[in-house]
Amino acid sequence: MKNFPIPRIDKDSILHNMLLKYCRLKEGEIWSDKKNNHKVGCLDSNNLKDLKKMFGRKKAVLAVHDPPYNMVAFQESDVDEFVKWSKIWINNSKHFMEKDSSLYIWLGADQKNNFQPFAEFILMMKDSEFKSRSFITMRNQRGYGTQKNWMSIRQELLYYTIGSPIFNIEHVYTDIPKVVKGYYKEINGKKTENLERSKSKNIRSGNVWIDIQQVFHLMDENVNGCFAQKPLKAIERIINVSSKKNDLVIDFFAHSGTTLLASEILERKCFTIDIDPIYCEITIRRLENYRKYGSLGWQNSNSFEEEIKNDKELQNYLNEKYELSFKEIGD
Ligand SMILES: C[S@@+](CC[C@H](N)C(=O)[O-])C[C@H]1O[C@@H](n2cnc3c(N)ncnc32)[C@H](O)[C@@H]1O
Repeated sequence: MKNFPIPRIDKDSILHNMLLKYCRLKEGEIWSDKKNNHKVGCLDSNNLKDLKKMFGRKKAVLAVHDPPYNMVAFQESDVDEFVKWSKIWINNSKHFMEKDSSLYIWLGADQKNNFQPFAEFILMMKDSEFKSRSFITMRNQRGYGTQKNWMSIRQELLYYTIGSPIFNIEHVYTDIPKVVKGYYKEINGKKTENLERSKSKNIRSGNVWIDIQQVFHLMDENVNGCFAQKPLKAIERIINVSSKKNDLVIDFFAHSGTTLLASEILERKCFTIDIDPIYCEITIRRLENYRKYGSLGWQNSNSFEEEIKNDKELQNYLNEKYELSFKEIGD
C-alpha cells in the first residue's frame, strides 16, 4: 500500500504555484469530455460571457452550488459583499436552467458571528425568481468538538425550485430501518400497524440527513489537497431525487469535482467550473481516475502523485516542509 498525501493546497501558495504547470486548463479555458460529454471550465461564476461559451444553448435541470465562504476574499465584515457577489452567480445560474428546475446551495452559518451569511443570503434569495422549498440540515461531524458549546455538526443545504421540477420520491429513503411501531389502523376488519402499511422498510431522509459520513482521510473518496469536499452520498441523493438519466447538472464551484463524479456514476451530464486551474485539474483527474481504477478519490495518495515522483524540486519542497515523501507501507 502507498502513503503519499499532500497538504491543503489553498494554504500553501508555493505548493500551489509549483503545481500550476501540471494543470491542463488556464483561466478562460474549457475541457470537453469525449466519452460522456461533461465539461470542466476554468471560469469565474460571475462572468456570464465566458459561461455562455461553455453552455451554448444547453440548459440544466439541476444546479448544485457550494460557494466559498470564510475565504480571504470575504472577511467577516464583508457579508454584504458576499451577498452582492452571490446575487450575480445566482442570476447566472438561472440563465442556464430549464423552466422546471431545482437549485441546491450549500451554505455556512458562522455561529461565532451572528450566523452570517445565512440570514443575509436567504433574504437576498427572496427577491430572486427561485421559490424556497426546503432547508436541509446534514449531520457533518468533524473531530470531537468543544467542551463549552454544543458541538457544531450541522451543514446547511438550501433547496429552491423554479416551475415544477422532477422530485423522484423513491430516492429519498435512507438505509436506516424503520423501528417505531404503534400507529394502528383497521383495514378490511384487520388491525394493522404502521410498519405493515408503509411503502418502504427504511426511513425517509426528510430534511435532516443523519446518515451521511463526513469525508475524512480513511475514506476511498478522500481527495488530499482539498479542504471543502462534500460527501459523494449527499450529492448522489440530490442528483437522484432532482434529475433523471442524461439530464444536465451544473456546479459553479467544482473544487474536488464531487458533482462531476456523482453525475458520471449516475449517468447524468455535468458542466462544472472552478476559478482555480488546480481544482479544475483535480476535478478532471478524479473523473479519469474513477474511469481507470474505479476509485472515488485518493485515500492514500494524491492526484499529482506521478508528477511529484518525477519533480525533484517539488519532492524536496514537500519533504522539507511537511516531511512528506512517497512510501510503500506494509498491509
Ligand atoms: C467550497 S469549495 C466547493 C467544494 C465542492 N462542493 C466539493 O465537493 O469539492 C469552493 C470552490 O469554489 C472555487 N471558487 C471560488 N470563487 C469562485 C468563482 N468566482 N468562480 C468559480 N469558482 C470559484 C474555489 O476555488 C473552491 O475550489
